[in-house]
Amino acid sequence: MTEAPMLDPGLIAQLLPFDPFDPAFLADPYPSYAQVREKGPVTRTPLGLWAVTGHEACSAVLRDQRFGWGDGAAVADHFRHGADGSVVRPFIFADPPEHTRIRALVSKAFAARQVDRMRATAERVVHELIETARAEAGDGPIDLMRAVAHPLPGRMQNALLDVPAEHAARFDELSGDIARGLDPSFLLAPEEIAKRDSARAELYHYIGELAERRRADPGTDLISELVSVEEGGDKLTPHELEVTCTLLLSAGYATTVNLIGNGMLALLGRPEQRDWLRADPDRVPAAVEEMLRFDPPVQMISRVAVAEAEIAGHTVQPGEQVMLMIGAASHDPAVYDDPDALKLDRPAGRNLGFGLGIHFCVGAPLARLTAQAAVSALTALDLELLTETPARVPNIIMRGLAELPVRISG
Ligand code: HEM
Repeated sequence: MTEAPMLDPGLIAQLLPFDPFDPAFLADPYPSYAQVREKGPVTRTPLGLWAVTGHEACSAVLRDQRFGWGDGAAVADHFRHGADGSVVRPFIFADPPEHTRIRALVSKAFAARQVDRMRATAERVVHELIETARAEAGDGPIDLMRAVAHPLPGRMQNALLDVPAEHAARFDELSGDIARGLDPSFLLAPEEIAKRDSARAELYHYIGELAERRRADPGTDLISELVSVEEGGDKLTPHELEVTCTLLLSAGYATTVNLIGNGMLALLGRPEQRDWLRADPDRVPAAVEEMLRFDPPVQMISRVAVAEAEIAGHTVQPGEQVMLMIGAASHDPAVYDDPDALKLDRPAGRNLGFGLGIHFCVGAPLARLTAQAAVSALTALDLELLTETPARVPNIIMRGLAELPVRISG
């Protein structure tokens, strides 16, 4: 497990309204979020960060174009600097019109790829993974993170980009290294930053090579689509393509891993919910939405005010940073009845787990079908949870498990 960096606790208390490295927070952050939210939907920390905990306030900021990335100073260490002096931003960190342009091209390529056709792949892969784990473990314990939650999204991404089988394991490793480095750099240890940056450089290079091959010999994968996709005479440049594919890999891997892990932990600890789900497989899509709300993989979304704006009566000045606490908003009692309970039959809607507005997750259909395949196959098994408090990975933006030990009985 990655060690958390040694930050001065006094500094953390000035910067954030909670201590992300407190083991109690890591195990269950929702009571701390509730305490912050009780003071109002918006809190300003002593160092001037705006923390937004209310669902309505988070939704309003996500829809408001006065919040974005501006000059990008807050996220500049995620930009790609070319040897020719060019700078390419991943489009998740870009504002309109740059964001609009790249997002339109990516959406078109995703649509052409017909993600829904990947459902059969997800179902096949998850069954293979379960069979392999069963054969290896016999009556012994299985770590569901290692056996299913990690490899399934990895295999889906490799299928999406048609990565040659011999490179697939390295690809997964690199996506993981980047995902672990998604926390703000001031919260990361220097080795984590170095690993993230070198993983990104390796992926840019490798994707560049794959794109060259697909230009010469196009396939039906997403890279081939991105190489050729055009919108109003516009195309992605080679650097944009490398940065965009690397973003897709890093944004899609750990998030899906953690939706499966967090969701299965919640389910296995609540036999009555599992029985409800087992009674009708058509309930799985709704169940996955509730898992996303109950313990969202992405706990926070950041923005910077690019113009003076208001959030729930507070005036925010240009350049000030806003932290949208999705984990807190997802448990807001103003929106959710009994928010700390997992209720798989909860009415759909208003889920912020994939974001909202112009940056709404472009991979949501793929993430949903992948998680649905995993939850469906795993729910059908008789799984015994071997600990109700498995170790967590100490990241603050991405919430996930380091392990999920279970035993398959029957
Ligand atoms: C359970 C899995 C996933 C979760 C919880 C998730 C969550 C999110 C969230 C919260 C955002 C909004 C970020 C913001 O507003 O700043 C986002 C954006 C994004 N996601 Fe996902 N995501 C998941 C899976 C995926 C997958 C599988 C892919 C790609 C294959 C992907 C690619 C992206 C991209 C490219 C963006 C940026 C969109 C934009 O800026 O317009 N995500 N995701």
